[in-house]
Formats: sequence, structure tokens, C-alpha cells
Amino acid sequence: MADKHTVLKVENLSVNYGYISALEGISLHVDQGEIITLIGSNGAGKTTTLMSISGLAAKAEGTVWFKGENITKMAPDRIVKMGMCHVPEGRKIFPALSVYENLIAGSLGNPSLTKNRIQELIEEQYRLFPRLKERIGQAGGSLSGGEQQMLAISRGLMMDPDIVMLDEPSLGLAPIIVEDIFELILKIRDMGKTILLIEQNASMALSIADRGYVLENGRIIMEGKGRELLADPKVKAAYLGA
Ligand SMILES: Nc1ncnc2c1ncn2[C@@H]1O[C@H](COP(=O)(O)OP(=O)(O)OP(=O)(O)O)[C@@H](O)[C@H]1O
Ligand SMILES: [Mg+2]
Repeated sequence: MADKHTVLKVENLSVNYGYISALEGISLHVDQGEIITLIGSNGAGKTTTLMSISGLAAKAEGTVWFKGENITKMAPDRIVKMGMCHVPEGRKIFPALSVYENLIAGSLGNPSLTKNRIQELIEEQYRLFPRLKERIGQAGGSLSGGEQQMLAISRGLMMDPDIVMLDEPSLGLAPIIVEDIFELILKIRDMGKTILLIEQNASMALSIADRGYVLENGRIIMEGKGRELLADPKVKAAYLGA
């Protein structure tokens, strides 16, 4: 479509770990302002997909385009500077640093940010995550699981990225906190960000996503609008416990 532009495009991507093939020629694309979800069970290759997009896992084959530039062989720190944020699985925040210091650490990913812009971004985080504002001096490691996940996302937003890639943000959290996280993802999109969301919680992910891809054993076996996939009998049986 003429009015949309593609932020991220993955073409025929394959990744091997030694003799093990983790991804076998997957292709996907994420357009400006979309929430795209990639769902799949344990070991399907979801984390590997994000790691290889952000330059953290070696690609055996395929091409990754970000904002029109071929980033297939680019170093991870340069990809970050281009505006790609990867919030990893398992909330890897800095446990010994305070909430505030974790946020500042996030801003260091983007050297073009001015002091004023960093201050604006901090204020933005306070609005998005009032719970973090209340705990600004507390050590990251002493936050609850849900708060740590929020801090991990917030730290990523501090680099003012164009795309936010989230690896299973709902993992291990109580249902009520999971709802908060998904609401937040919608808010982040409304702030103008593009989102690639990896999830095992297929029903929540598909219900907020514009489009989704289903990953099974390193291959994309289905794709479609979030609502269509939610209603699909095969998806229901395999991923929605129906
Ligand atoms: N560093 C590694 N060395 C060898 N094999 C790996 C490595 N990382 C992942 N794998 C394998 O690659 C496959 C895909 O793993 P990946 O972590 O991408 O799955 P996932 O979909 O994120 O699963 P989960 O939902 O459990 O996080 C798995 O079979 C896994 O064992
Ligand atoms: Mg994973």
C-alpha cells in the first residue's frame, strides 16, 4: 500500500546452532505503526528470530532490512543506534542499579539524544509507568517480576526507538499484570512506535495485534490478521487450548 511503509523486512532467514537448524527460511515484515506478533510454542525459534534480527545470532542465510537499509551483517550496537530496541526474554535489567539508573542506561544506546530529550523521555516513562516513578530510587533487582518487566520495556523506550521488539513480556506474570503489559503495548504503539511482539500467550497477543505469524519448528506455517488467526480452528486447537 502506498500510504504504509515497511519498517522491518526479513527475507528467507535461516539460523543454525551447530548441526541444529533453528530457523528454516522465514520471511516476515512489519509496517510503520503496526503491532505484529509472532506466536509459537517452546523451542519454535521465536527468541532466535529476534536475536538474529538484532544482530545477536549469526544468520546462515537470508536478509534483514530495517528502514530500507540492509542490516544483515551489521553489528548489534549499530542496529540499536538506527532505532531498533530489543527487550530480551527474562527481563535482563541491571539488578544492582536503581530504576533511574536503569533508565539512563537505556538512553545510552542512542548517542544522538540531547540532555533535554533524555529528560523528556524520563517524563514520558513516568507517565507510562507510574509504578516505576514511585520506585525510582529502588534497586532494579528488588522490584517485583511485573515491575521488572515494565522497567525492561521502559529502559528500551529510553533510547527513543522506531521499533520495539518484545520477547515474551508476559512470561511468568500473574494474569492481571499480563493485562497491564498488553495495555501498555497498545499505548506504546499509540505513541507512534512500531511493535514486534513474540509471545506464547497467543490469545492475548493475537487480540492486540494487527497481524500475526505462527512459527512451528523454525518455519512460519500460517500468517494473517490477528482476529482471523484467533478464529482459525487450527490455531485454536494448537495455541488457544480450545
Ligand atoms: N545457543 C544455542 N545453542 C544451541 N541450540 C540453541 C541455542 N539457542 C537456541 N537453541 C535451539 O534452537 C531452537 C529454538 O530456540 P528458541 O530459543 O529460539 O525458541 P523459542 O521459540 O524462543 O522458545 P521459548 O518459548 O522456550 O523461549 C530450540 O530447539 C533451542 O534448543
Ligand atoms: Mg524464547
